[in-house]
Amino acid sequence: IKRVTTNSLQEMKKRGEKIAMLTAYDYSMATIVDEAGMDIILVGDSASNVMAGHETTLPITLDQMIYHASSVVRAARRALVVVDLPFGSYQGNSKEALNSAIRIMKEAGAHSVKMEGGVEIAESITRILAAGIPVMGHLGLTPQSIYKFGTYTVRAKEEAEAQKLREDALKLEELGCFGIVLEKIPAQLAREVTESIHIPTIGIGAGKYCDGQVLVIHDMLGINKGFKPRFLRQYADLNNVMNSAFKAYIDDVKAKNFPNDKEQY
Ligand code: KIV
Ligand code: NA
Repeated sequence: IKRVTTNSLQEMKKRGEKIAMLTAYDYSMATIVDEAGMDIILVGDSASNVMAGHETTLPITLDQMIYHASSVVRAARRALVVVDLPFGSYQGNSKEALNSAIRIMKEAGAHSVKMEGGVEIAESITRILAAGIPVMGHLGLTPQSIYKFGTYTVRAKEEAEAQKLREDALKLEELGCFGIVLEKIPAQLAREVTESIHIPTIGIGAGKYCDGQVLVIHDMLGINKGFKPRFLRQYADLNNVMNSAFKAYIDDVKAKNFPNDKEQY
């Protein structure tokens, strides 16, 4: 199998082939995602929400991200593995940022890192790239800044924030990032940004003009019952599937139907 690389992603943008990206946090799920042919697997800090049950992405630690990432890397034969630098592991200074990125590459065996922000983290991005570590940017609704935003609503609807985002995207390209996640911004702004740079944009709630799309695996599989924002397409109803399986198992155990004679030694 030919591994997806940051170079092949640039080629995909050039020839207009859309990029499919999905999160995963453990070996078994990542194996299924990889075998399906996903281009990029993101070990997102959304693990803080869907794996650990935190309300935000802020609490997850670098050690916890490395644990998730190392499991996913062992599963990914074809996909490029991108790992989020968690909150607090890169904002302090560029040396700390580089050390965090190095730990993710070395201890988890990841292929690249993702960081939230634009010009304000330029120095850290430069330093990480200089060490040979590919960096993906993340603009728009950046969940590590949720307490600054105060809401999970669409970002950059006002011109000032839209203009900052356009400039940030150009800066990230100039620095040498291999792609940019655009989260929850108007489709037309995502289109402008996508057409203004040569590196691929990967959208989530950012419309159809992005060069690729990303979703959180639990959301698209319908595991989180209550979460149904407009941008989310649910490709399965695993909550129901799993609930039925668990209930059937409970019923069988209670009714002494499991195990039967053939299911014992
Ligand atoms: O952590 C995550 O899952 C992400 C995606 C939503 C882009 O950053
Ligand atoms: Na993230």
